[in-house]
Amino acid sequence: MSNQAHTLFGGEQTQITVLDLAKAKLASDCWPMLTTYDSLTAELFDEVGIPVLLVGDSAAMVMLGYDSTIPITVDELLILVKAVSKSAKRAMVVADMPFGSYQASVEDALRNATRLIKEGGAAAVKVEGGARVAPQVTALVAAGIPVMGHLGLTPQSVNAFGGYKVQGKGAAAEVLLQDALALEAAGAFAVVLEVIPAQLAAEITSKLTIPTIGIGAGAEVDAQVLVWQDLAGLTKEPAPKFVKRYLNLREDLKNAVTEFAAEVKAKKYPEEKHSYKN
Ligand code: KIV
Repeated sequence: MSNQAHTLFGGEQTQITVLDLAKAKLASDCWPMLTTYDSLTAELFDEVGIPVLLVGDSAAMVMLGYDSTIPITVDELLILVKAVSKSAKRAMVVADMPFGSYQASVEDALRNATRLIKEGGAAAVKVEGGARVAPQVTALVAAGIPVMGHLGLTPQSVNAFGGYKVQGKGAAAEVLLQDALALEAAGAFAVVLEVIPAQLAAEITSKLTIPTIGIGAGAEVDAQVLVWQDLAGLTKEPAPKFVKRYLNLREDLKNAVTEFAAEVKAKKYPEEKHSYKN
């Protein structure tokens, strides 16, 4: 691999792999990850050069209308993973493992991850939790499936947390650090740190040899991820504190749809140029 390939965002090499992410950490090359759930955005984000696309179980909320990530099933997510995998040429596609698809046993984890890789075409899977899912991570890695970990405000545990609250404060910081080390020891290739104090995220990042990917975890991490509909301003206000709106898509789309409806009513659309001749 050339030095230039260390710039993961928009770099030239084909098909990003876990090795590229490891090299980016060594080169202190901070990279972006985005969620995506359909072929059009996958194609677009891939063209722009986003190196890792996550088919997150956030699809439960932003695509399927559930009020948390808990209800989405492997079958539901699989359809979206297939769409994204077909459209991403360079980016590495990571599929989330839905709640209930890996927690009970190593066998469940192997069976369901295999589906996301084999039927869905993903290159890796993501699981939530630390030491308690280390046996699953070890088994998946041994089976040839790269695993991304996820710690902090893991949305599948929202009921146990009693809401969407900052994690890793006070004594919980040491537990979180140990969980991150347990994931690394089990063979995870990266770990998402969600909604934890920036100082803790920086400490974990300095102690791990695998990349950390922050979301609400401050700037001292190896990569940053956002849900694309948050970034684009499509999701409703209020957004979590860590979200930056790079676009006001909700407002723009609302205006466009309202204009379309008014033009249809007034018979201004379609015009002659939109019509076919005999
Ligand atoms: O499901 C998801 O979108 C995620 C990211 C927010 C990390 O897990």
